[in-house]
Amino acid sequence: MSVSKAPARKVILTGDRPTGPLHLGHYVGSLKNRVAHQHEYQQTILVADAQALTDNTDDRGKVHRNVSEVALDYLAVGIDPDVTTICVQTWLPELTELTFYYLNLVTVARLERNPTVKEEIRLRNFERDIPAGFLTYPVSQAADITAFRANLVPVGDDQLPMIEQTNEIVRRLNRLADREILVEAHALVPPIGRLPGIDGRAKMSKSLGNAINLCATPDEIRAAVKKCYTDPLHLRVDDPGHLEGNVAFAYLDAFDEDRAGLQEMKDHYVRGGLADSKVKARLEERLQELLRPMRERREQYAANPDFVWDMLRAGTERARETVAKTLDDVRSVFVTPGWGGR
Ligand code: TRP
Repeated sequence: MSVSKAPARKVILTGDRPTGPLHLGHYVGSLKNRVAHQHEYQQTILVADAQALTDNTDDRGKVHRNVSEVALDYLAVGIDPDVTTICVQTWLPELTELTFYYLNLVTVARLERNPTVKEEIRLRNFERDIPAGFLTYPVSQAADITAFRANLVPVGDDQLPMIEQTNEIVRRLNRLADREILVEAHALVPPIGRLPGIDGRAKMSKSLGNAINLCATPDEIRAAVKKCYTDPLHLRVDDPGHLEGNVAFAYLDAFDEDRAGLQEMKDHYVRGGLADSKVKARLEERLQELLRPMRERREQYAANPDFVWDMLRAGTERARETVAKTLDDVRSVFVTPGWGGR
């Protein structure tokens, strides 16, 4: 084995809960950046099935089915498993052991203050019956991030509290150990913000039913574009149209590379005299062009499930080398001396 003399590349860790197909919102917010980052950084993607179980304990089948589906979405958008490590969280019990130690470094009150978890508890109507695993998933996420010694964690703003929580654990552990065992992580906030749902709500989301999936068929794409929220005041073609809150234009902003042509279309729309159907025809064309190659690549890989599972097993073994080292370091702080190790 040769030891590389080149300066180590920064380490990125990202992940998704495998609870359903990934959609255009994921593409804009994270997948596209992962494809761009994979050669520049040492990137690992964690299929966070253990985290998904914290609020899907009774629906494990859904989580298990979606592990390979999410992996197919990664391959479809162009993530290259030879350069990006793709691994499965429940196959790395090292992460579970780290979580158990880290739980001693946080308080229940601190966990209850996490604004993202608070909002999720409200949405799931957990109220007084919060599963302990759910309340503490930010600690498990801290285990994920620190186990890989990630410097950078690409996140939407809803995940910023997780990074904060992680770094509190890092500092607490390093103080206990009196040396720098873990490294602090920094959030990498994506350049393009959130994509609205086709219904005009602020966020595209599977649970809100307003998403366009990356694996959508041409007919599904057509139907979704037809339903896209535009400008309720644009009743007749001649009426001046509005761009604010207009989902068709928000999507064109995200996916249309012909910026001059798009600007012309916007000017015409605002002046009046341009039908919504013209805007939607352009949008449909762009989305069909974007999603066709993804769908085709997905189908090729889906025809070869062994490839996908082999890739996940190999990625997980590669990941284990890294996380096992971190676990050894953390164990040195907590394990009763005398054990020979494993
Ligand atoms: N919480 C993330 C989500 O809901 C998924 C996730 C789990 C994750 N572990 C992670 C993201 C580690 C970044 C780093 O999408």
